[in-house]
Amino acid sequence: MAGLTHSALRQIFSGFGGVGLLSTEMLWAKRLPTENVRISPYLISTVSEKPLSYQLLVSSDREIVPAMDALHRLQADAVDLNMGCPHWSVGKSGSGFALMEQPENARRIVSQARKHTLLPLSAKIRLGAELDEEALKNFCTMLEDEGVDMLSVHARLKKESFARTPRWEWIAGIKGWVGIPVVANGGIFTVRDARDCLDVCGADGLMLGRGAVIRPWLFAEIAREIYGRDIAGPIVFLPALYNTFIDLINELYRPERRLGRLKEFTYYFARNYQFGHQLSSRIQSSHSVEEARERAAVFFENNSLPQSCANAATGTKLN
Ligand SMILES: Cc1cc2nc3c(=O)[nH]c(=O)nc-3n(C[C@H](O)[C@H](O)[C@H](O)COP(=O)(O)O)c2cc1C
Repeated sequence: MAGLTHSALRQIFSGFGGVGLLSTEMLWAKRLPTENVRISPYLISTVSEKPLSYQLLVSSDREIVPAMDALHRLQADAVDLNMGCPHWSVGKSGSGFALMEQPENARRIVSQARKHTLLPLSAKIRLGAELDEEALKNFCTMLEDEGVDMLSVHARLKKESFARTPRWEWIAGIKGWVGIPVVANGGIFTVRDARDCLDVCGADGLMLGRGAVIRPWLFAEIAREIYGRDIAGPIVFLPALYNTFIDLINELYRPERRLGRLKEFTYYFARNYQFGHQLSSRIQSSHSVEEARERAAVFFENNSLPQSCANAATGTKLN
């Protein structure tokens, strides 16, 4: 997720456990070959963030070879093609969801990608611009025929807001059309949501978005409670988690790259608190990471742990 699933947050996810596959933010394939891996917050990663899939925004098959070469140098564990982002800034270049509207271009891109990597190759899609079963089926089967190994489906249409109930039942339809694993995405914020989603669509896996940013221990809870993984229930102490995030961005990124990322994270993290909007607005108006840390400390002093976190407090501890 752009601005969010960089190394700092991925390390926190890994610390709690339960994640089968981590992902980078969407990365412009065109820029990837010249990005400086030592300082780019998009590319910095550590050994604890494994396996790590790199998500590409591609608009033409000509971008594939240099991008794949760069991903091989980075020792990517998997490659994901973004075909779901409907943002105008992405669409105007012909990337993201625009590829679902230009299936022939998508086909050339996937075919070229398949030729140039042996890495697992996945695609992330939405359901379409409108509900059109035939178009969606043709698109999904085309992806499979061209060599995509796994599909992740954000179960909403192009223009549907994130607030809308996702259409998980459509994922069940996709599962019936393709033989490759299908991962469900959209609207999973709790273990209960995860269970409901699986009941509705029978997906082969779950992809967490905002729910994981708000509650980075959600992977661990789902792995334990739904998939029966032998992981201790997470102990969550929100102020410690927040300070760990700050320590990590300080350690990983150059000063000018830190505050923006802290603000992005806080926007979601603050939802753990009843009065989280206060935390969020205090951090949004902070001028430095240290000022933000101090303001957050005052907030934490005055706002005790919400019940949901107290309930999660059994088992391993976040470092
Ligand atoms: C701030 C933000 C950034 C996102 N960035 C990406 C991205 O880089 N790549 C991607 O495939 N989806 C991205 N998404 C979409 C999410 O991956 C996910 O499909 C969507 O949020 C629905 O899942 P959720 O309801 O679990 O959040 C982003 C969403 C948000 C809110």
